[in-house]
Amino acid sequence: DETKAGVKGLLDAGVEQLPSFFVVRPQEEASSHGASHLQLPVIDLKGLNQSDEAERKRIIEQLREASETWGFFQIVNHGVPQQLIDDMIEGIRSFHEQLSPEEKAEYYSRDNKNKIRLTSNNLLFKQKAADWRDTLYLDMAPNVPEPEEIPELIRDVTIKYTATIHELGRTLFKLLSEGLGLEPNLLIDLGCANGQSISGNYYPPCPQPDKTFANLPHTDPDFMTILAQDAVGGLQVFYQNQWIDVAPVPGAFIVNIGDMLQQLITNDKLKSVLHRVLPTHTASRVSVVSLFSTYDRNFDTVFGPIKELISEENPPLYRDLMIRDYIYHFTQKGFSALDRFRL
Ligand code: SIN
Ligand code: FE2
Repeated sequence: DETKAGVKGLLDAGVEQLPSFFVVRPQEEASSHGASHLQLPVIDLKGLNQSDEAERKRIIEQLREASETWGFFQIVNHGVPQQLIDDMIEGIRSFHEQLSPEEKAEYYSRDNKNKIRLTSNNLLFKQKAADWRDTLYLDMAPNVPEPEEIPELIRDVTIKYTATIHELGRTLFKLLSEGLGLEPNLLIDLGCANGQSISGNYYPPCPQPDKTFANLPHTDPDFMTILAQDAVGGLQVFYQNQWIDVAPVPGAFIVNIGDMLQQLITNDKLKSVLHRVLPTHTASRVSVVSLFSTYDRNFDTVFGPIKELISEENPPLYRDLMIRDYIYHFTQKGFSALDRFRL
């Protein structure tokens, strides 16, 4: 079934002209590269384990500042072994490059109830436009997959990587809580770190990179995202009305605030910001995106801007809602739900 071969399958079949449903980039955008004088903040976490309280406060301040303005930052000296990051990235690359179409076909699914799903926008004929990528989704928590459900090629590394990123995520949620003037455990207690998933993105070389996107402009529909990318580049963040290139920094993670943290918790204090990925003509790019969301789609806890961040001068901007209604909007309708619940 040739639709199951994904974008990589199209490329392997020798496609030179993009099928029309990939064509989304207006011509004038063809060379819209980022403004190079602006750079995503790089925050060094080294000082966290030096029991230097002043240094810890400085780090918290940098995280708060970046989360309120860019909604994005990079972190270095985060304590995650480089080997583990490399192994995870190379594992995702191997999955996409080394498995045969028949082996991959087993994982193709658009059913969100499946914890492991390989998708390609190639399949989303409903959508107006597609992007130039194949993605392996792995829902890792709270419904933990059985080890055998995870493709064998990446089984061990995925389990180890998930646990390590979970710890890093908890650390960041605590620091962000403090930065917001809240109890350090508040974001974790609200469930921000309960759900964890991985998007293993594979962006093959694109024969007409000025005609499509590798990843369409979007905001992330979660609480927070921790992203590892290889050295190819292409990610851009929308900041001060322009698209800024995020140059790969060796060993760094890119962290961004998602819609749920902006809207369901912080009443727009922290920002969930548009980003996109441009395709390249020559290289294949891999990114491993860890998303922190909450529970599952049937969960009916009510969320809204938290009382600690609301006052007379700062009234709630969003109505309270059930997490499943919120999730419905981005799974069924495929776009950010941020404005749906604005008061
Ligand atoms: C994403 O935003 O979902 C992926 C970004 C990337 O591949 O760098
Ligand atoms: Fe994203």
